[in-house]
Amino acid sequence: MAQSFYQNFKVGIVGGGQLGRMLIQSGIDLNINFSVLDPDPQAPCHQLAPFTCGKLTDYQTVLNFGQDCDLITIEIENVSVQALYELEKAGKKVFPQPSIIELIQDKRKQKQFFKDNDIPTADFILVENKADVLQQLSYLPAVNKLGREGYDGRGVQLLRNNEDLSKAFDAPGLLEKLIDFEKEISVIVSRNEAGEIAAFPAVEMVFHPEANLVEYLFSPAQLHEAISNQAKQIAEHVIRSLGLVGVLAVEMFVTRDGKILVNEVAPRPHNSGHQSIEANVTSQYEQHLRAILGLPPGDTSCTTPSAMVNLLGEEGYSGLAKYEGLNEVLSISGVHVHLYGKKQTKPFRKMGHVTLVDSDLESLKKKAYFVKQTLKVKA
Ligand SMILES: Nc1ncnc2c1ncn2[C@@H]1O[C@H](COP(=O)(O)OP(=O)(O)OP(=O)(O)O)[C@@H](O)[C@H]1O
Ligand SMILES: [Mg+2]
Repeated sequence: MAQSFYQNFKVGIVGGGQLGRMLIQSGIDLNINFSVLDPDPQAPCHQLAPFTCGKLTDYQTVLNFGQDCDLITIEIENVSVQALYELEKAGKKVFPQPSIIELIQDKRKQKQFFKDNDIPTADFILVENKADVLQQLSYLPAVNKLGREGYDGRGVQLLRNNEDLSKAFDAPGLLEKLIDFEKEISVIVSRNEAGEIAAFPAVEMVFHPEANLVEYLFSPAQLHEAISNQAKQIAEHVIRSLGLVGVLAVEMFVTRDGKILVNEVAPRPHNSGHQSIEANVTSQYEQHLRAILGLPPGDTSCTTPSAMVNLLGEEGYSGLAKYEGLNEVLSISGVHVHLYGKKQTKPFRKMGHVTLVDSDLESLKKKAYFVKQTLKVKA
């Protein structure tokens, strides 16, 4: 590519949310020109780059948008893959490749891919509809997942027993064996066109002891060295098997007997890599740009232990967002607040995140709890 992106080269991002926003933020340092497509005229990217308002799943909209770019990437999987194939055929670089986005859009195909490529994953069966699930009493307890368009836990539900069966999704999906995991971890891995691969150290989701919600994310994951190395190797195996160009987030379970199972993958920067902006030598956003632009991967090491707290819209509040507790939180050393610029809040909407860095793990935990309790998005 002869580094032509230093001149008039334009990277189009399909999707203009917070991931796009942080990608642009990192791209400024590499002098990259962006343009963005998103259906929301107020999307987090709308003032950061030339902005086109349009539907991501509409063939003609994505095609028109991409024709004006030199390289097209995504920050969300739910996009018109047909348009991306067309752009690829027309000679545009499209990373991640459309065939991989298409595979990952469907959890059924994704799981089959894991199976076909010796990627360890929970056992599963495919189900076409609710009637199908009702036949599978002996497979319970299981996790029922929609094949398509589930995200942030929507489209995933636990079926423990006979009574739960009535909740089953009435659409093509899968039933996965319930995994009694000890930890849920994630590894972000990148690959460029030359096949150079680099994995970040695993991070760990810390769950609230009572409510089954992710409390905060912790980096690096507290794991035996052998397990964290294995997690990296599995992530590298997944991205190599896919042949993906860009970053890939690999979500995994560590079982109580020390086995790693891949839950699912996302072909883009991910919520579990936000902390890399402040706490790793290279951020996942810069790493994605390096990968898609044919540059060498950056050093993925952690520079400090860190925690990341998602800032979600407070329950019971909808409307123009107001931030409570900012001053208190910003008074602490090692606190980095990221607000995504979303005007409207609603319960559980991702409005921002906070990264905390501290070399002392206990103090890091305390800070994470303080931020969770203090910083609120209300209306
Ligand atoms: N087989 C399983 N056994 C136990 N728990 C599971 C299983 N599959 C999923 N889960 C739990 O449900 C959560 C959501 O599942 P999954 O990641 O597949 O859905 P998602 O809608 O894509 O979520 P997100 O967008 O938050 O990543 C997982 O993070 C995990 O905590
Ligand atoms: Mg997930």
